[in-house]
Amino acid sequence: MAKKNEIGIGLLGLGVVGSKIAGHLLQCIETLSLNLDGPMVLRRVLVRNMKIPRSISLPDGILTDDFSVVLNDPDIHIVVEVMGGEIPAADYLNQLLKKGKSVVTANKEVMAKHGPLLMAAAAHSGAELRFEASVGGGVPIVGPLQNDLLANEIISIRAIINGTTNFILTKMAKEKMEFTSALAEAQSLGYAEPDPTDDVEGIDAAYKIAILASLAFHTEVSPKNVYTEGITALQAEDFEFAHELGYEIKLLAIAERTQDGVQARVHPALVHRESMLAKVEGAYNAVEVYGDLAGPVVFHGLGAGPAPTTSSLIGDLLAVARSGEHPAPSRPRAKLPFKPMVDLETQYYLRVSIADQSGVLSQIAQVFGESDISIAAVTQKDVDNQQGTAQLVITTHPARESAMQTALKAIKEMSVLKKVHNLLRVETV
Ligand code: HSE
Repeated sequence: MAKKNEIGIGLLGLGVVGSKIAGHLLQCIETLSLNLDGPMVLRRVLVRNMKIPRSISLPDGILTDDFSVVLNDPDIHIVVEVMGGEIPAADYLNQLLKKGKSVVTANKEVMAKHGPLLMAAAAHSGAELRFEASVGGGVPIVGPLQNDLLANEIISIRAIINGTTNFILTKMAKEKMEFTSALAEAQSLGYAEPDPTDDVEGIDAAYKIAILASLAFHTEVSPKNVYTEGITALQAEDFEFAHELGYEIKLLAIAERTQDGVQARVHPALVHRESMLAKVEGAYNAVEVYGDLAGPVVFHGLGAGPAPTTSSLIGDLLAVARSGEHPAPSRPRAKLPFKPMVDLETQYYLRVSIADQSGVLSQIAQVFGESDISIAAVTQKDVDNQQGTAQLVITTHPARESAMQTALKAIKEMSVLKKVHNLLRVETV
């Protein structure tokens, strides 16, 4: 039987993050409960398989593999979800919120795809839904967008919000590693998942920028509205050329509010080596929010790992447990239009291999000219005398994405072209 005033906690998931949060709660529960109306008690932990040996010892009888035990326990008031994945987590959270139990989650996929539905369920039952840990690991960014920066019209968010890819890109840049070796190292250190698709294809970052853009612009941004490109096509040569031109290459997640609507995109981009984002290294994350009043505000810290994620989860848990404190409304206020990727205007970097013969440069220049794209610089190197090919890197002045795609198509059809290695965008702001 629960004692009066006790705040009952349920935990869904006991993987690396779940074990860290359970361990920290059990070890520090008295201190953590000091400013609450009553003590917190970890009442139930849901796992898929009860038979797996655990690294953590839990009080007898709290482990269960039956979700309904958590759902129907009247003495559980707040549930922390660290199962990850969409199914069955999204359905579990919906049921819990409908039943009036508050939820704290680290689940970016569920929040990005089902955030509006879950927020509606919470608003209907009066429960709270908090998700600081879903973006940026230990970096507070959801709370600041929901509260501290609320007076602002947010103009843009530029972020590095995937620690695995930032670790890989840092290795490729600093140690001249190829992508596959850098990925293998990220996996051996436990940064990347055994199946790293969501990280390296930009999907994880797309979930996170969808969450941030929804909060920043008070609208519904789904992952489907985010243009997404990963880092798998990048090669050591791209880093060499980028460095010669004064840039680093980063996987950026960008959300902007323009007169034509909201644009959200994830792709590798060249950023000037002196910029703040260029200096974010390893598994760190950084988010720059530009507000009309606050100007640029930067959040920087560890974006992944059990301890930073536990920091955000327990912060949210305590905020829910402190009665009377509610987050600012997160529900969308307006349905804003989306600005399609073809309307983007930015600078570009194109790396191609071409036949090393006279007249080739003028043919390429003609294609750019016909698409109304102004070339900023051309670099040629790595002439392969046997094959008779050379590598060209062309950078452009600001041009429209649609024009760039037309030029790229024409270049691909040129008989002198051997290979298009990479088309990257250059972020100058
Ligand atoms: N896979 C994520 C990353 C960690 O590498 O940033 C949690 O969101």
